[in-house]
Amino acid sequence: MRRLIATVCLLNFTVAAFAGTVLHIDTKHPGPEISKDVYGQFVEHLGHGIYGGIWVGKDSKIPNTNGYRNDVLKALKELHVPVMRWPGGCFADIYHWRDGIGPRKQRPKTVNWLWGGVTEDNAFGTHEFLDFAEMIGSDVYVNANLGSGTEKEASDWLEYMTADGDSDLANLRRANGRDKPWHIKYFAIGNESWGCGGNMTPEYYANLYKRYATFAKTPEDNRPIMIASGGTDVRTDWTETLAQIKPNWSFNIDAISHHYYTLPTGEWETKGRAIGFKEDQWFSTFKHTLKLEDYVRANLAIMDKYDPEKRLGFFVDEWGTWYDTEEGDNPGFLLQQNSLRDALVAAINLNMFHKYAKRVRMTSIAQMVNVLQAMILTDGKKMLLTPTYHVFKMHIPFQDATSLPSTINGLPKYKYGKDAVIGISASAARGKDGKIWLSLVNLNPNKVSGIEIDTGGKIKGAVGQVLTADKMDAHNTFGKPDAVHPVKYSAKTENGKLMLELPAKSVVVVALQ
Ligand code: AHR
Repeated sequence: MRRLIATVCLLNFTVAAFAGTVLHIDTKHPGPEISKDVYGQFVEHLGHGIYGGIWVGKDSKIPNTNGYRNDVLKALKELHVPVMRWPGGCFADIYHWRDGIGPRKQRPKTVNWLWGGVTEDNAFGTHEFLDFAEMIGSDVYVNANLGSGTEKEASDWLEYMTADGDSDLANLRRANGRDKPWHIKYFAIGNESWGCGGNMTPEYYANLYKRYATFAKTPEDNRPIMIASGGTDVRTDWTETLAQIKPNWSFNIDAISHHYYTLPTGEWETKGRAIGFKEDQWFSTFKHTLKLEDYVRANLAIMDKYDPEKRLGFFVDEWGTWYDTEEGDNPGFLLQQNSLRDALVAAINLNMFHKYAKRVRMTSIAQMVNVLQAMILTDGKKMLLTPTYHVFKMHIPFQDATSLPSTINGLPKYKYGKDAVIGISASAARGKDGKIWLSLVNLNPNKVSGIEIDTGGKIKGAVGQVLTADKMDAHNTFGKPDAVHPVKYSAKTENGKLMLELPAKSVVVVALQ
Protein backbone atom coordinates (compact mmCIF):
# COMPACT_ATOMS: atom_id res chain seq x y z
CA MET A 1 0.00 0.00 0.00
CA ARG A 2 2.74 2.44 1.05
CA ARG A 3 4.75 1.63 -2.10
CA LEU A 4 1.66 2.13 -4.26
CA ILE A 5 1.05 5.65 -2.96
CA ALA A 6 4.74 6.58 -3.42
CA THR A 7 4.59 5.39 -7.03
CA VAL A 8 1.42 7.34 -7.71
CA CYS A 9 3.11 10.51 -6.48
CA LEU A 10 6.12 10.02 -8.71
CA LEU A 11 3.99 9.49 -11.81
CA ASN A 12 2.39 12.86 -11.24
CA PHE A 13 5.71 14.71 -11.37
CA THR A 14 6.48 16.64 -14.52
CA VAL A 15 9.34 18.88 -15.52
CA ALA A 16 6.78 21.60 -16.34
CA ALA A 17 6.15 21.85 -12.61
CA PHE A 18 9.35 23.91 -12.29
CA ALA A 19 8.38 27.43 -13.15
CA GLY A 20 11.49 29.16 -11.85
CA THR A 21 10.42 28.85 -8.22
CA VAL A 22 13.44 29.01 -5.90
CA LEU A 23 13.61 28.74 -2.11
CA HIS A 24 16.60 30.78 -0.92
CA ILE A 25 17.74 29.85 2.57
CA ASP A 26 20.03 32.21 4.47
CA THR A 27 22.21 29.83 6.47
CA LYS A 28 24.65 32.60 7.45
CA HIS A 29 22.15 34.64 9.45
CA PRO A 30 20.21 32.15 11.58
CA GLY A 31 17.04 33.43 13.24
CA PRO A 32 15.63 32.65 16.69
CA GLU A 33 15.09 29.19 18.08
CA ILE A 34 11.75 27.60 17.27
CA SER A 35 10.60 26.63 20.74
CA LYS A 36 9.45 23.05 20.90
CA ASP A 37 6.39 24.40 22.71
CA VAL A 38 5.08 25.74 19.40
CA TYR A 39 4.05 22.08 18.95
CA GLY A 40 1.86 22.17 22.08
CA GLN A 41 -1.58 20.63 22.34
CA PHE A 42 -4.80 21.30 24.17
CA VAL A 43 -6.76 18.88 26.35
CA GLU A 44 -10.16 20.05 27.59
CA HIS A 45 -13.02 18.43 29.50
CA LEU A 46 -15.07 18.37 26.34
CA GLY A 47 -16.83 15.45 24.65
CA HIS A 48 -14.49 12.46 24.51
CA GLY A 49 -11.37 14.59 24.61
CA ILE A 50 -10.47 13.11 28.00
CA TYR A 51 -13.10 10.58 29.05
CA GLY A 52 -12.93 7.68 26.59
CA GLY A 53 -10.14 9.33 24.61
CA ILE A 54 -7.34 9.42 27.17
CA TRP A 55 -8.84 8.24 30.42
CA VAL A 56 -10.93 5.05 30.60
CA GLY A 57 -10.37 4.15 34.26
CA LYS A 58 -8.51 1.16 35.67
CA ASP A 59 -11.48 -1.19 35.41
CA SER A 60 -12.04 -0.61 31.70
CA LYS A 61 -11.80 -3.49 29.21
CA ILE A 62 -9.78 -1.16 27.01
CA PRO A 63 -6.10 -1.94 27.67
CA ASN A 64 -4.84 0.75 30.01
CA THR A 65 -2.12 1.72 32.45
CA ASN A 66 -3.60 3.05 35.68
CA GLY A 67 -6.68 4.19 33.75
CA TYR A 68 -4.93 5.77 30.73
CA ARG A 69 -5.44 4.09 27.33
CA ASN A 70 -2.27 2.25 26.29
CA ASP A 71 -2.74 2.89 22.56
CA VAL A 72 -3.12 6.64 23.08
CA LEU A 73 -0.17 6.78 25.51
CA LYS A 74 2.05 5.05 22.96
CA ALA A 75 0.99 7.30 20.07
CA LEU A 76 1.54 10.45 22.14
CA LYS A 77 4.96 9.35 23.37
CA GLU A 78 6.00 8.84 19.76
CA LEU A 79 4.70 12.32 18.92
CA HIS A 80 7.10 14.07 21.39
CA VAL A 81 4.30 16.29 22.73
CA PRO A 82 6.25 19.17 24.33
CA VAL A 83 3.45 20.75 26.36
CA MET A 84 -0.26 20.24 27.07
CA ARG A 85 -2.83 22.82 28.08
CA TRP A 86 -5.59 21.80 30.53
CA PRO A 87 -8.45 21.88 31.75
CA GLY A 88 -9.84 24.37 29.18
CA GLY A 89 -10.77 26.43 27.24
CA CYS A 90 -14.15 27.63 28.33
CA PHE A 91 -14.20 24.72 30.80
CA ALA A 92 -11.33 26.31 32.74
CA ASP A 93 -13.67 29.06 33.91
CA ILE A 94 -16.19 26.64 35.39
CA TYR A 95 -13.59 24.26 36.84
CA HIS A 96 -12.99 24.11 40.57
CA TRP A 97 -9.82 22.15 41.16
CA ARG A 98 -10.78 20.86 44.62
CA ASP A 99 -13.53 18.80 42.92
CA GLY A 100 -10.81 16.76 41.19
CA ILE A 101 -8.51 15.65 44.02
CA GLY A 102 -8.68 12.91 46.65
CA PRO A 103 -10.28 9.45 46.39
CA ARG A 104 -12.14 9.26 43.08
CA LYS A 105 -15.28 7.73 44.54
CA GLN A 106 -15.69 10.69 46.87
CA ARG A 107 -15.29 13.36 44.22
CA PRO A 108 -18.41 15.43 43.52
CA LYS A 109 -20.44 15.02 40.36
CA THR A 110 -20.97 18.27 38.51
CA VAL A 111 -22.57 19.23 35.21
CA ASN A 112 -20.44 20.20 32.26
CA TRP A 113 -23.07 22.66 31.07
CA LEU A 114 -20.70 24.16 28.54
CA TRP A 115 -20.09 20.99 26.58
CA GLY A 116 -23.13 18.78 26.12
CA GLY A 117 -24.56 19.12 29.65
CA VAL A 118 -23.03 15.77 30.62
CA THR A 119 -22.13 14.62 34.11
CA GLU A 120 -18.55 15.42 35.04
CA ASP A 121 -17.54 12.92 37.69
CA ASN A 122 -14.17 14.57 38.19
CA ALA A 123 -12.32 11.27 37.80
CA PHE A 124 -9.69 13.10 35.80
CA GLY A 125 -8.30 15.88 37.97
CA THR A 126 -5.02 17.55 38.85
CA HIS A 127 -3.11 14.36 39.71
CA GLU A 128 -4.46 12.48 36.71
CA PHE A 129 -3.49 15.28 34.33
CA LEU A 130 -0.04 15.89 35.76
CA ASP A 131 0.74 12.16 35.97
CA PHE A 132 -0.42 11.76 32.37
CA ALA A 133 1.98 14.51 31.30
CA GLU A 134 4.85 12.76 33.07
CA MET A 135 3.93 9.46 31.42
CA ILE A 136 4.16 10.92 27.91
CA GLY A 137 7.13 13.17 28.75
CA SER A 138 5.29 16.47 28.24
CA ASP A 139 5.49 19.77 30.12
CA VAL A 140 2.24 21.30 31.34
CA TYR A 141 0.20 24.43 30.92
CA VAL A 142 -2.49 24.83 33.59
CA ASN A 143 -5.28 27.32 32.94
CA ALA A 144 -6.80 28.85 36.08
CA ASN A 145 -10.44 29.78 36.60
CA LEU A 146 -10.91 33.54 36.56
CA GLY A 147 -14.53 33.73 35.39
CA SER A 148 -16.26 31.86 38.23
CA GLY A 149 -13.38 31.39 40.65
CA THR A 150 -11.49 33.54 43.10
CA GLU A 151 -7.88 34.60 43.35
CA LYS A 152 -7.63 32.46 46.50
CA GLU A 153 -8.79 29.39 44.61
CA ALA A 154 -6.22 30.02 41.86
CA SER A 155 -3.37 30.74 44.27
CA ASP A 156 -4.25 27.71 46.41
CA TRP A 157 -4.15 25.51 43.31
CA LEU A 158 -0.69 26.74 42.42
CA GLU A 159 0.48 26.21 45.99
CA TYR A 160 -1.03 22.71 46.03
CA MET A 161 0.90 21.80 42.89
CA THR A 162 4.24 23.50 43.58
CA ALA A 163 4.81 24.09 47.32
CA ASP A 164 7.79 22.14 48.67
CA GLY A 165 7.66 22.96 52.39
CA ASP A 166 5.37 22.24 55.29
CA SER A 167 2.03 23.80 54.37
CA ASP A 168 -1.45 22.35 54.60
CA LEU A 169 -1.86 22.39 50.82
CA ALA A 170 1.53 20.74 50.16
CA ASN A 171 0.67 18.15 52.82
CA LEU A 172 -2.74 17.55 51.23
CA ARG A 173 -0.99 16.87 47.92
CA ARG A 174 1.31 14.43 49.71
CA ALA A 175 -1.66 12.74 51.37
CA ASN A 176 -3.19 12.39 47.90
CA GLY A 177 -0.13 10.49 46.72
CA ARG A 178 2.30 13.03 45.33
CA ASP A 179 5.30 13.88 47.44
CA LYS A 180 7.42 15.96 45.06
CA PRO A 181 6.05 19.28 43.81
CA TRP A 182 5.26 19.39 40.11
CA HIS A 183 6.73 21.89 37.71
CA ILE A 184 3.99 23.94 36.07
CA LYS A 185 5.70 25.44 33.05
CA TYR A 186 2.82 27.75 32.08
CA PHE A 187 -0.02 29.15 34.17
CA ALA A 188 -2.79 31.25 32.61
CA ILE A 189 -5.37 33.45 34.31
CA GLY A 190 -8.74 32.89 32.65
CA ASN A 191 -9.67 32.01 29.09
CA GLU A 192 -11.49 34.00 26.42
CA SER A 193 -12.43 36.55 29.05
CA TRP A 194 -14.08 38.56 26.28
CA GLY A 195 -16.66 35.74 25.98
CA CYS A 196 -17.23 32.44 27.78
CA GLY A 197 -14.69 33.44 30.43
CA GLY A 198 -16.83 36.28 31.77
CA ASN A 199 -17.68 38.76 28.99
CA MET A 200 -15.22 41.35 30.22
CA THR A 201 -13.58 44.36 28.66
CA PRO A 202 -9.79 44.26 28.23
CA GLU A 203 -9.37 46.97 30.89
CA TYR A 204 -11.47 45.13 33.49
CA TYR A 205 -9.60 41.90 32.75
CA ALA A 206 -6.22 43.65 32.97
CA ASN A 207 -7.00 44.75 36.53
CA LEU A 208 -8.18 41.28 37.48
CA TYR A 209 -5.10 39.74 35.88
CA LYS A 210 -2.84 41.89 38.07
CA ARG A 211 -4.81 40.96 41.15
CA TYR A 212 -4.73 37.20 40.43
CA ALA A 213 -1.09 37.25 39.36
CA THR A 214 -0.10 39.05 42.55
CA PHE A 215 -1.29 36.13 44.66
CA ALA A 216 -0.17 33.34 42.32
CA LYS A 217 2.91 32.36 44.29
CA THR A 218 5.34 29.47 43.89
CA PRO A 219 8.87 28.78 45.13
CA GLU A 220 11.13 31.18 43.16
CA ASP A 221 12.96 28.32 41.40
CA ASN A 222 9.66 26.78 40.26
CA ARG A 223 7.98 29.83 38.80
CA PRO A 224 5.60 29.31 35.86
CA ILE A 225 5.54 31.42 32.74
CA MET A 226 2.49 33.61 33.44
CA ILE A 227 -0.02 34.06 30.62
CA ALA A 228 -2.65 36.77 30.32
CA SER A 229 -5.63 35.62 28.28
CA GLY A 230 -5.90 37.78 25.18
CA GLY A 231 -7.99 38.35 22.10
CA THR A 232 -9.19 36.48 19.09
CA ASP A 233 -9.28 36.62 15.30
CA VAL A 234 -8.76 40.11 13.91
CA ARG A 235 -8.96 41.79 17.34
CA THR A 236 -5.96 43.70 18.66
CA ASP A 237 -7.62 45.61 21.52
CA TRP A 238 -6.74 42.94 24.08
CA THR A 239 -3.08 42.98 23.09
CA GLU A 240 -3.10 46.78 23.10
CA THR A 241 -4.24 46.81 26.73
CA LEU A 242 -2.39 43.78 28.07
CA ALA A 243 0.96 44.68 26.49
CA GLN A 244 0.94 47.84 28.61
CA ILE A 245 0.84 45.94 31.89
CA LYS A 246 4.21 46.38 33.52
CA PRO A 247 5.28 43.61 35.90
CA ASN A 248 6.86 44.64 39.19
CA TRP A 249 8.29 42.98 42.30
CA SER A 250 4.86 41.61 43.22
CA PHE A 251 3.61 40.00 40.02
CA ASN A 252 4.65 38.78 36.57
CA ILE A 253 3.24 38.77 33.10
CA ASP A 254 5.25 36.81 30.54
CA ALA A 255 2.90 36.31 27.60
CA ILE A 256 -0.41 37.24 25.99
CA SER A 257 -2.50 34.54 24.36
CA HIS A 258 -4.62 34.69 21.21
CA HIS A 259 -7.16 32.33 19.62
CA TYR A 260 -8.04 31.73 16.00
CA TYR A 261 -10.07 28.95 14.41
CA THR A 262 -10.13 28.15 10.69
CA LEU A 263 -13.68 27.79 9.37
CA PRO A 264 -14.04 26.83 5.70
CA THR A 265 -16.83 29.37 5.15
CA GLY A 266 -15.62 31.87 7.73
CA GLU A 267 -19.16 31.80 9.23
CA TRP A 268 -19.95 30.31 12.65
CA GLU A 269 -23.57 29.45 11.71
CA THR A 270 -22.55 27.19 8.81
CA LYS A 271 -18.88 26.47 9.08
CA GLY A 272 -18.57 23.78 6.41
CA ARG A 273 -18.12 20.03 6.51
CA ALA A 274 -15.04 18.12 7.63
CA ILE A 275 -15.26 15.76 4.66
CA GLY A 276 -17.34 15.57 1.50
CA PHE A 277 -16.49 19.15 0.51
CA LYS A 278 -15.59 20.42 -2.95
CA GLU A 279 -12.72 22.56 -4.16
CA ASP A 280 -14.52 25.82 -3.26
CA GLN A 281 -14.20 24.92 0.43
CA TRP A 282 -10.71 23.48 0.03
CA PHE A 283 -9.68 26.88 -1.31
CA SER A 284 -11.64 28.98 1.21
CA THR A 285 -10.24 26.96 4.11
CA PHE A 286 -6.73 27.98 3.11
CA LYS A 287 -7.81 31.53 2.45
CA HIS A 288 -9.12 31.69 6.02
CA THR A 289 -6.23 29.90 7.66
CA LEU A 290 -3.72 32.21 5.98
CA LYS A 291 -5.42 35.17 7.68
CA LEU A 292 -3.88 34.14 10.98
CA GLU A 293 -0.52 35.46 9.79
CA ASP A 294 -2.06 38.94 9.33
CA TYR A 295 -3.57 38.76 12.80
CA VAL A 296 -0.30 37.63 14.36
CA ARG A 297 1.58 40.40 12.58
CA ALA A 298 -0.91 43.07 13.68
CA ASN A 299 -0.68 41.97 17.31
CA LEU A 300 3.12 41.71 17.24
CA ALA A 301 3.36 45.24 15.88
CA ILE A 302 1.44 46.44 18.94
CA MET A 303 3.63 44.43 21.29
CA ASP A 304 6.73 45.91 19.66
CA LYS A 305 5.49 49.41 20.63
CA TYR A 306 5.34 48.59 24.34
CA ASP A 307 7.88 45.81 24.57
CA PRO A 308 10.61 46.37 21.96
CA GLU A 309 12.96 43.92 23.74
CA LYS A 310 10.44 41.17 22.96
CA ARG A 311 10.27 40.00 26.56
CA LEU A 312 6.60 39.12 26.25
CA GLY A 313 5.56 36.05 24.30
CA PHE A 314 2.56 35.88 21.97
CA PHE A 315 1.00 32.46 22.42
CA VAL A 316 -1.63 31.19 19.99
CA ASP A 317 -2.97 28.73 22.52
CA GLU A 318 -6.05 27.71 20.51
CA TRP A 319 -5.87 27.20 16.76
CA GLY A 320 -7.02 24.70 14.16
CA THR A 321 -10.02 23.82 12.04
CA TRP A 322 -13.61 23.88 13.28
CA TYR A 323 -16.32 22.24 11.16
CA ASP A 324 -20.05 21.59 11.44
CA THR A 325 -21.01 18.65 13.62
CA GLU A 326 -22.26 15.69 11.60
CA GLU A 327 -25.89 14.66 12.03
CA GLY A 328 -26.31 12.24 14.89
CA ASP A 329 -23.27 13.50 16.82
CA ASN A 330 -23.70 15.49 20.03
CA PRO A 331 -23.15 19.11 18.93
CA GLY A 332 -21.59 19.83 22.33
CA PHE A 333 -18.81 17.30 21.75
CA LEU A 334 -17.11 18.98 18.77
CA LEU A 335 -16.13 15.67 17.22
CA GLN A 336 -14.96 16.00 13.62
CA GLN A 337 -13.16 13.97 10.99
CA ASN A 338 -9.69 15.00 10.02
CA SER A 339 -8.58 14.85 6.41
CA LEU A 340 -5.61 15.64 4.22
CA ARG A 341 -6.90 19.25 4.21
CA ASP A 342 -6.35 19.42 7.99
CA ALA A 343 -2.80 18.15 7.52
CA LEU A 344 -2.08 21.04 5.15
CA VAL A 345 -3.74 23.56 7.48
CA ALA A 346 -1.50 22.33 10.32
CA ALA A 347 1.70 22.50 8.25
CA ILE A 348 0.91 25.98 6.89
CA ASN A 349 0.33 27.32 10.40
CA LEU A 350 3.43 25.64 11.81
CA ASN A 351 5.49 27.22 9.02
CA MET A 352 3.99 30.58 9.91
CA PHE A 353 4.70 30.15 13.64
CA HIS A 354 8.34 29.32 12.79
CA LYS A 355 8.60 32.68 11.07
CA TYR A 356 7.56 34.60 14.21
CA ALA A 357 9.48 32.35 16.59
CA LYS A 358 10.92 35.25 18.55
CA ARG A 359 7.55 35.95 20.19
CA VAL A 360 5.44 32.96 19.19
CA ARG A 361 7.16 30.71 21.70
CA MET A 362 4.18 28.50 22.50
CA THR A 363 0.98 27.46 20.77
CA SER A 364 -1.53 24.71 21.34
CA ILE A 365 -3.64 23.18 18.64
CA ALA A 366 -7.26 22.48 19.55
CA GLN A 367 -7.38 19.69 20.52
CA MET A 368 -5.44 16.51 21.22
CA VAL A 369 -7.99 13.64 21.08
CA ASN A 370 -11.54 13.40 19.63
CA VAL A 371 -12.17 17.17 19.65
CA LEU A 372 -11.85 19.60 16.70
CA GLN A 373 -8.55 19.22 14.79
CA ALA A 374 -7.46 16.17 16.74
CA MET A 375 -4.29 14.12 16.55
CA ILE A 376 -6.13 10.96 17.52
CA LEU A 377 -9.69 9.66 17.18
CA THR A 378 -11.07 6.83 19.30
CA ASP A 379 -14.27 4.84 19.30
CA GLY A 380 -14.53 2.38 22.16
CA LYS A 381 -11.52 0.11 21.80
CA LYS A 382 -10.63 1.46 18.37
CA MET A 383 -8.12 4.20 17.76
CA LEU A 384 -6.67 5.95 14.71
CA LEU A 385 -4.01 8.54 13.97
CA THR A 386 -5.20 11.46 11.88
CA PRO A 387 -3.37 13.20 9.03
CA THR A 388 -2.74 16.06 11.50
CA TYR A 389 -0.94 13.60 13.80
CA HIS A 390 1.30 12.61 10.90
CA VAL A 391 2.14 16.22 10.11
CA PHE A 392 3.08 16.94 13.74
CA LYS A 393 5.27 13.84 13.76
CA MET A 394 6.96 14.75 10.47
CA HIS A 395 7.83 18.15 11.99
CA ILE A 396 9.53 16.84 15.16
CA PRO A 397 12.97 17.94 13.84
CA PHE A 398 11.70 21.55 14.00
CA GLN A 399 11.25 21.35 17.79
CA ASP A 400 13.97 23.56 19.33
CA ALA A 401 15.60 23.95 15.90
CA THR A 402 17.15 27.26 14.85
CA SER A 403 15.01 29.03 12.29
CA LEU A 404 16.71 30.00 9.03
CA PRO A 405 15.33 32.98 7.14
CA SER A 406 14.02 31.93 3.75
CA THR A 407 12.32 33.55 0.78
CA ILE A 408 10.62 32.08 -2.25
CA ASN A 409 11.34 33.73 -5.57
CA GLY A 410 8.74 33.08 -8.25
CA LEU A 411 6.18 31.93 -5.68
CA PRO A 412 3.37 30.22 -7.63
CA LYS A 413 -0.21 31.21 -6.94
CA TYR A 414 -3.02 28.75 -6.34
CA LYS A 415 -5.91 30.29 -8.27
CA TYR A 416 -9.55 29.44 -7.77
CA GLY A 417 -12.15 31.37 -9.76
CA LYS A 418 -11.14 35.00 -9.59
CA ASP A 419 -9.35 34.53 -6.31
CA ALA A 420 -5.86 33.30 -5.43
CA VAL A 421 -3.69 32.36 -2.45
CA ILE A 422 -0.05 31.39 -2.18
CA GLY A 423 0.70 28.11 -3.93
CA ILE A 424 3.51 27.01 -1.62
CA SER A 425 4.18 27.55 2.07
CA ALA A 426 7.72 26.88 3.28
CA SER A 427 10.06 27.15 6.24
CA ALA A 428 13.63 26.14 6.96
CA ALA A 429 15.54 25.47 10.16
CA ARG A 430 18.78 23.96 11.40
CA GLY A 431 17.76 20.99 13.52
CA LYS A 432 19.45 19.92 16.71
CA ASP A 433 21.03 17.18 14.57
CA GLY A 434 22.89 19.90 12.63
CA LYS A 435 20.93 19.24 9.43
CA ILE A 436 18.94 21.79 7.47
CA TRP A 437 15.27 20.80 7.57
CA LEU A 438 12.61 22.07 5.17
CA SER A 439 8.86 22.01 5.47
CA LEU A 440 7.05 22.56 2.17
CA VAL A 441 3.33 22.60 1.47
CA ASN A 442 1.76 22.56 -1.98
CA LEU A 443 -1.73 24.03 -1.51
CA ASN A 444 -2.83 23.41 -5.08
CA PRO A 445 -5.00 20.27 -5.23
CA ASN A 446 -4.60 19.92 -8.99
CA LYS A 447 -0.98 20.70 -9.83
CA VAL A 448 2.43 19.37 -8.96
CA SER A 449 4.74 22.23 -8.00
CA GLY A 450 8.49 22.27 -8.36
CA ILE A 451 10.90 24.23 -6.20
CA GLU A 452 14.64 24.65 -6.45
CA ILE A 453 16.55 24.76 -3.17
CA ASP A 454 19.35 27.26 -2.76
CA THR A 455 21.40 27.43 0.44
CA GLY A 456 24.39 29.13 -1.13
CA GLY A 457 26.34 25.92 -0.40
CA LYS A 458 26.67 22.40 -1.74
CA ILE A 459 23.72 20.02 -1.32
CA LYS A 460 23.72 16.40 -2.41
CA GLY A 461 20.02 15.82 -2.09
CA ALA A 462 17.08 15.70 0.29
CA VAL A 463 15.57 12.85 2.27
CA GLY A 464 12.39 12.82 4.29
CA GLN A 465 8.70 12.13 3.98
CA VAL A 466 5.69 13.25 1.96
CA LEU A 467 2.06 13.18 3.01
CA THR A 468 -0.53 13.25 0.24
CA ALA A 469 -3.50 11.29 -1.08
CA ASP A 470 -5.62 11.15 -4.19
CA LYS A 471 -8.66 12.95 -2.70
CA MET A 472 -8.83 16.33 -0.98
CA ASP A 473 -10.84 14.87 1.87
CA ALA A 474 -8.88 11.61 2.18
CA HIS A 475 -8.98 10.53 5.81
CA ASN A 476 -8.44 7.59 8.10
CA THR A 477 -11.35 5.56 9.41
CA PHE A 478 -11.54 2.83 12.04
CA GLY A 479 -11.98 0.39 9.15
CA LYS A 480 -9.02 1.83 7.21
CA PRO A 481 -6.90 3.54 9.86
CA ASP A 482 -3.84 3.78 7.62
CA ALA A 483 -5.42 5.17 4.44
CA VAL A 484 -3.51 8.46 4.79
CA HIS A 485 0.04 8.21 6.05
CA PRO A 486 3.44 9.63 5.13
CA VAL A 487 5.77 7.79 2.77
CA LYS A 488 9.48 8.14 2.05
CA TYR A 489 10.59 11.02 -0.11
CA SER A 490 14.01 11.61 -1.63
CA ALA A 491 15.58 13.72 -4.33
CA LYS A 492 19.13 14.03 -5.69
CA THR A 493 21.01 17.10 -6.84
CA GLU A 494 21.48 17.00 -10.60
CA ASN A 495 23.66 19.35 -12.65
CA GLY A 496 24.37 21.27 -9.44
CA LYS A 497 20.70 21.90 -8.72
CA LEU A 498 18.38 20.38 -6.14
CA MET A 499 14.84 20.44 -7.48
CA LEU A 500 12.06 19.18 -5.25
CA GLU A 501 8.79 18.12 -6.79
CA LEU A 502 5.86 18.73 -4.49
CA PRO A 503 2.86 16.57 -5.37
CA ALA A 504 -0.50 18.32 -5.62
CA LYS A 505 -2.03 18.83 -2.12
CA SER A 506 0.96 17.63 -0.19
CA VAL A 507 3.21 18.26 2.79
CA VAL A 508 6.89 17.44 2.31
CA VAL A 509 9.40 17.50 5.19
CA VAL A 510 13.02 16.76 4.27
CA ALA A 511 16.55 17.08 5.60
CA LEU A 512 19.13 18.35 3.14
CA GLN A 513 22.08 16.02 2.61
O1 AHR B 1 -11.65 24.53 21.82
C1 AHR B 1 -13.01 24.65 22.05
C2 AHR B 1 -13.39 26.00 22.67
O2 AHR B 1 -13.10 27.01 21.77
C3 AHR B 1 -12.62 26.39 23.90
O3 AHR B 1 -13.15 25.83 25.05
C4 AHR B 1 -12.79 27.87 23.91
O4 AHR B 1 -11.73 28.53 24.55
C5 AHR B 1 -12.90 28.24 22.44
O5 AHR B 1 -13.96 29.08 22.21
